[in-house]
Amino acid sequence: MNLVFLGLPGAGKGTQAQILAKKYNIPHISTGDIFRNAIKNETPLGVKAKEYIDSGELVPDEVTNGIVKERLQKEDCNQGFILDGYPRTLDQAEALDENMNQLDRKLDLVIYTKVKESELIKRLTGRRICEDCGATYHVEFDPPEVEAICDKCGGNLIQRDDDKEETVEKRINVNKDKTDQLINYYNKKDILIEIDAEKEIDAVSNEIVDVIEEKVK
Ligand code: AP5
Ligand code: MG
Ligand code: ZN
Repeated sequence: MNLVFLGLPGAGKGTQAQILAKKYNIPHISTGDIFRNAIKNETPLGVKAKEYIDSGELVPDEVTNGIVKERLQKEDCNQGFILDGYPRTLDQAEALDENMNQLDRKLDLVIYTKVKESELIKRLTGRRICEDCGATYHVEFDPPEVEAICDKCGGNLIQRDDDKEETVEKRINVNKDKTDQLINYYNKKDILIEIDAEKEIDAVSNEIVDVIEEKVK
């Protein structure tokens, strides 16, 4: 099962992708997580990506396309994958199509998680992530059992550098038109599903699972 999560920053792509990856036992591939890991480890990719990410801009398509192409060739993707935050531009969508053709596979579903802007800002400014395992929390909507400590691994919870209020607005604006273009692109291919992602986390997951069971399984 080959899935894509599409949605503005804070719409819950990562939260939902993590739940589905566990349920269906396929890898969750987040380009944002790949970049953040590279930055943490100070790799050449990290050095290249840092400036864009800190300022809320997109990393150039050729860099991002290359990384995803390589990742999808790994063996753990043989049974399927969940892409989160990729593609994010038309150029990336076309590169992914080409990539799928070469691998003789196709995308089953593009899940668009729709949330209004005022809600996105609340979600992003209250988000905390584990500095060790990357798990996502929210101070109000999805708090850990012990304040500032990861339930899964005991690591410290921190705020992402790009979740400061100024950068959050910039990120939403950078992604708006591009997201609309991708909605169009995948609607034409008849694989787009729009989900009302303003409901609670579990309600959103249940709705997504219902759609998958109906359309893909
Ligand atoms: P990335 O890490 O992908 O950031 P993003 O797209 O801005 O999306 P987020 O991770 O912020 O939001 P999300 O939808 O995953 O929400 P989450 O589940 O965490 O990318 C970061 C940067 O990397 C980009 O700005 C860009 O520079 C670069 N990049 C990445 N991919 C790229 C690409 N393809 N091309 C070029 N550049 C790229 O949820 C948010 C919060 O809300 C959490 O606290 C969560 O607990 C809470 N929450 C989730 N669901 C709910 C709910 N239903 N109700 C209440 N709270 C909820
Ligand atoms: Mg995310
Ligand atoms: Zn952790």
